[in-house]
Amino acid sequence: MKGYFITFEGPDGSGKTTQIGLLKDYLKEIGFEVVVTREPGGTSIGEAIREIILDSAYGEMTPVTEMLLYAAARAQHVDELIKPALESGKIVLCDRFVDSSLAYQGFGRGLGIELIERVNKVALNGINPDMTFFFDLDPKEGLKRGQARGEGVDRLELESMDFHQRVYDGFNGLCLRYPDRFKRVDASMGIHDIHKETINRILQLLKDKK
Ligand code: TMP
Repeated sequence: MKGYFITFEGPDGSGKTTQIGLLKDYLKEIGFEVVVTREPGGTSIGEAIREIILDSAYGEMTPVTEMLLYAAARAQHVDELIKPALESGKIVLCDRFVDSSLAYQGFGRGLGIELIERVNKVALNGINPDMTFFFDLDPKEGLKRGQARGEGVDRLELESMDFHQRVYDGFNGLCLRYPDRFKRVDASMGIHDIHKETINRILQLLKDKK
């Protein structure tokens, strides 16, 4: 693949989205073509699936249904948007990707990492992130930040603190499992310090992959 695929993971409210916006501006300024996208979503079908998954009216959704819906949105996202962008040499910045399924459905829902990997193999179609940032923030702090923003609470955010703690522990486990790909960022730092750190990591990736 000619392009670079960079994903951003972490608890809700850890500041990923803000940082993705800053990185996009920076990378464009230095001459790269950049695509910003998110999961679940990124395509019309993916955004429609997102509506279903996050709707707090669907409290009865089973963990397996949830896992398959995330994977279905991902399959469309990879083939329709991510793969073509990478083939044409663009940098793709993606707000959450398969590691969220591993952390939320694998650890949070207890489905286990092997099942999530097996199901998602079909959806990924050979595409894997070149680099994944883990925005490390205590999940309690993340949920507080989310509430302070005053946005509506989605079905996942309604889950217990135990669930969010399992997800957080899951992300930490993934950092250990994939030490080359994962870059941990202390998300309690200020916006500008985080921006500097993410830029440096990405510039290193661009240099190494050349
Ligand atoms: P967002 O609020 O960061 O856009 O993400 C939507 C929610 O979906 C968030 O709580 C994390 C969750 N999620 C999963 O549980 N599994 C997944 O595979 C993805 C991509 C997100």
